[in-house]
Amino acid sequence: MNLLIVGTGYVGLVTGACFAEMGHHVMCLDIDQKKIENLLKGELPFYEPGLEELVKRNIQAGRLFFTTDYKTGVEFALVCFIAVPTPSDEDGSCDLSYVLTAADQIAKHIDSYKIIVNKSTVPVGSSQKVKESVKAVMSSQGKDYPFDVVSNPEFLKEGSAVSDCMKPDRIILGVDNPKSASLMKEIYSAFTLNHDRILIMDPISAEMTKYAANAMLANRISFMNELAGLCERLGANINEVRVGIGSDTRIGYQFLYAGIGYGGSCFPKDIRALRAMAKEVNYETPLLEAVNTINERQKKWLAEKMRRHFGDVSGKTIAIWGLAFKPNTDDMREAPSVDLIKELLASGARLRLFDPAATTKAQQSLPSHPDIHWCRDEYEAAHQADAIALVTEWKQFRFVDFTRVLETMMGKAFFDGRNQYKIQEMRSKGFEYFGVGVSCK
Ligand SMILES: NC(=O)c1ccc[n+]([C@@H]2O[C@H](COP(=O)([O-])OP(=O)(O)OC[C@H]3O[C@@H](n4cnc5c(N)ncnc54)[C@H](O)[C@@H]3O)[C@@H](O)[C@H]2O)c1
Repeated sequence: MNLLIVGTGYVGLVTGACFAEMGHHVMCLDIDQKKIENLLKGELPFYEPGLEELVKRNIQAGRLFFTTDYKTGVEFALVCFIAVPTPSDEDGSCDLSYVLTAADQIAKHIDSYKIIVNKSTVPVGSSQKVKESVKAVMSSQGKDYPFDVVSNPEFLKEGSAVSDCMKPDRIILGVDNPKSASLMKEIYSAFTLNHDRILIMDPISAEMTKYAANAMLANRISFMNELAGLCERLGANINEVRVGIGSDTRIGYQFLYAGIGYGGSCFPKDIRALRAMAKEVNYETPLLEAVNTINERQKKWLAEKMRRHFGDVSGKTIAIWGLAFKPNTDDMREAPSVDLIKELLASGARLRLFDPAATTKAQQSLPSHPDIHWCRDEYEAAHQADAIALVTEWKQFRFVDFTRVLETMMGKAFFDGRNQYKIQEMRSKGFEYFGVGVSCK
C-alpha cells in the first residue's frame, strides 16, 4: 500500500522504514529541508541501532522516499500517518498545534478518500479535533472528499525502536468505522503473522491507552525511587528488594530499577499532559502528581550525594559517564544529565563529559562553558577526576578496566546513578562507592 508519514523524527522515520521493509511504498515528509536532504544522501538525523541499514536498503529497493512537499505526499498515499511533535505547552497541557497544522496541510491536498492516522501521542479527544479541522479546511476550499481519522498510538522505545516496530507487543487501532479498521488491519497484517496483536477500540480509548501506559511505567520508576530513598535510610539494598518483588509474577521484573529519575521526550511531557487533561475536567490526580514530584526529587540525587561527600563540589573535577536520557540513543530531551550538569557547573565543579553517541546533541543542549571538557571515552573522562558519576548505563560501561581508571583518577569516589555495579566489588577495587538505594553503612 502507498503510505505517507508526516514527520520524519524518531517515530516517523522508524515507522516509515519498517513499513517499507514489510513491502509497503512509503513517503516520509518533513518540513525540515536539511533533514530531508541529508536523508536523501543516506544520512540519519539521529542515532538508532539498526535504522541506518534499514533506511538505506529500502531507499535502494525503491520502497522508501522522502519529500518536503505535501502535495506530492498526499497524492501519493491512501493513508497519511501523522508523527509530528506534541510538546508541553506552558501550562503542561499538550500542544496540539503541530498535529493540527499537519492535518490541515493534508486536508489542503486531499484529492480522494484518505485515512488520516494520529501516531503522535495526542490528548483524549484529538481524533475529533483533527476531523473537524480537516473538514473545515476542505470546506474552505469547496471540497468534500470522504476521509477517516484513526488513532494509532506508538509504543516503540528509543534504543530498540526498530525491533519494537517490527515486533510490536500490540497494535492499537482507535477506529469509528469498519472500513478504516479493515484497511488499517491490512497495513499491519505483515507485523502480525505470528499471532494477532491488533487491538481495535474506539479512538478516545486508544488515545487514553497511550497515556495510561506511560503513566504506569513512570509510576513504577517513581515507586522504586521512593523505596530506594527509604532503603538508604533503613539499611536495605534496593537491588535485593527489586529481585524480591520482581519474582512475584503479579509484579514482574520490568521497570523496577531505581536510578536518577526518568527523562526523555515522552514520560515527563505525557505525565504533564495527563494531569492537564484531568484538571480540565476538574478531577484530582494525586498519584500522577506524586509520580512527578518523586521524579523531580530523584533527579537531584547525584548532586546531593556529591555535596554530602565533598561538602562543597567547587573546584572538584567530576567525570560524567553517559549523557543521553537512556542508553542506545542520542536523545537528550529532558535528560537528567542536563539538570545535573547545570547544577554542578553553578556550584563551581569542573566537568569531564563522555557519551558514546550523544556528544553532538549534548553540545547543542548545554551552554558552552569553560569548565566543560568533552572526552572521547570513559577513560579520558576519568583522568584526574575527583569522582565519577554514571548517568547513562551504556553497555560499554559494564566491563570497564577499573584498575586503569583508578590509576589516573585524582580521587576515588564513584556515584552510580544506575546501580550498574556491586557495592562490595567496587569497594574492593578501591572506590568509595555510592549507589541509589544502597545503604552505605
Ligand atoms: N520518541 C519516542 O520514543 C516516541 C515514542 C512513542 C510516541 N512518541 C510520540 O510521537 C510523536 C513524535 O515524536 P518524535 O520523538 O518522533 O518527534 P521528533 O521531534 O523526533 O520528530 C518530529 C518531526 O516532525 C517534524 N515536523 C514538525 N512539524 C511538522 C509538520 N507540520 N509537517 C511535517 N513535519 C513536521 C519535525 O521537523 C521533526 O522532524 C510525539 O507525539 C511523541 O510523543 C514518541
